Amino acid sequence: MQINPHLFILPRTPGQIVWDYRSHKQFELNLEYSIRLAQLIEHPEAFDNSNIIDTQFLNTGILTTSIQDTTEWGWDELSKIFHIGTKNIPCEYIPQNIHEWSRHYLDHCNEVLTSSAPDTDLAHRAAHAMIALPTPSGLPADSLGDALVSRKTCRSFTGEAVSLGDISTLLYLSLGYLKEREDDIDETVAEGLAARRSSPSGGGLNACEGFLLAQNVIGLEPGLYAYHPADHALSFVNPLTGSPLGQLVCGQHFINNLPAGLFLSARFDKLWWKYQHSRAYRMAYVEAGHISQTFQLVATALGLNTWLTGALTDDQVETLLGLEDSPEQPLFFVGCGQSDGQVMCKELKALLNQQGSQQ
Ligand SMILES: Cc1cc2nc3c(=O)[nH]c(=O)nc-3n(C[C@H](O)[C@H](O)[C@H](O)COP(=O)(O)O)c2cc1C
Repeated sequence: MQINPHLFILPRTPGQIVWDYRSHKQFELNLEYSIRLAQLIEHPEAFDNSNIIDTQFLNTGILTTSIQDTTEWGWDELSKIFHIGTKNIPCEYIPQNIHEWSRHYLDHCNEVLTSSAPDTDLAHRAAHAMIALPTPSGLPADSLGDALVSRKTCRSFTGEAVSLGDISTLLYLSLGYLKEREDDIDETVAEGLAARRSSPSGGGLNACEGFLLAQNVIGLEPGLYAYHPADHALSFVNPLTGSPLGQLVCGQHFINNLPAGLFLSARFDKLWWKYQHSRAYRMAYVEAGHISQTFQLVATALGLNTWLTGALTDDQVETLLGLEDSPEQPLFFVGCGQSDGQVMCKELKALLNQQGSQQ
């Protein structure tokens, strides 16, 4: 007898939840069952066929007679629980043809639409006056091919200011709701979900949002600003803290004089509204990745260099963005500015040279 290797246990007064994350089953155990499970965890061979709790554990799959954990994971338990726990999500019925799929999808959408969508704009965003951005410029013709080839991650920025015009173009083309697409909306799209960005968006929800970090932008007070994609405008959120940007990105201080950047966040409440399964969490990062790449390509096409990170000092970033205890959470950061094009900062290069000369 063995304990199912795909369990985790969640204490929740007055009992404990035993979660079989591979088969997506949860069991609530009272004290008696919890104690018995603890005994069997210590001594699985103490399984007793005549003990009703033991047989229930076996019948529900909490105990098993077969060795099941053949997964070569190569990573930590938490990532394994999340990945496997969001795999093969339970689906009551898999549509067998296009007619069944259409009916199934329509039913799902109708069910979702019986509850209203989470507010499009969170309250704190409206608290400050809107700051209109200049009309975005286009990009040079044929710039995509060049940008794809030239984009590279730089870690040495000059600190030179960027223009508000470039920031406007960057924000519009990576996060803005495109005016050019307004006449090209399919009539089947549900009300409130018609806005389109240059990047695809899970469920058309546009769950990702962006906060501009302005350290040196001509015509903009240094600070954090929420971007309003429907209005192509900013609103002030917080001044800079005075501590270097590197503090916010887990000590990567080579980035301290980056003139501008974008914190990408995700509205988990919006995703949950349509997709009530943790698997949708994966999609939040995929969507942020699309937007980040678009930002980098636009910046490159504008003659700027780029840097990016997912290593956020989360608590500090959340405070700065006003997102503490919010269903919207920061996921990623991408920035741009003038650079000497170096992949590494000179301080690390000096250490590497020193190391090299000592060998
Ligand atoms: C998801 C993701 C996270 C990254 N995080 C960091 C980071 O924390 N710090 C950093 O300096 N570069 C980061 N990078 C940049 C990579 O190191 C870089 O893309 C890689 O070295 C390849 O270089 P290239 O971007 O010039 O092609 C990240 C890239 C991605 C896609």
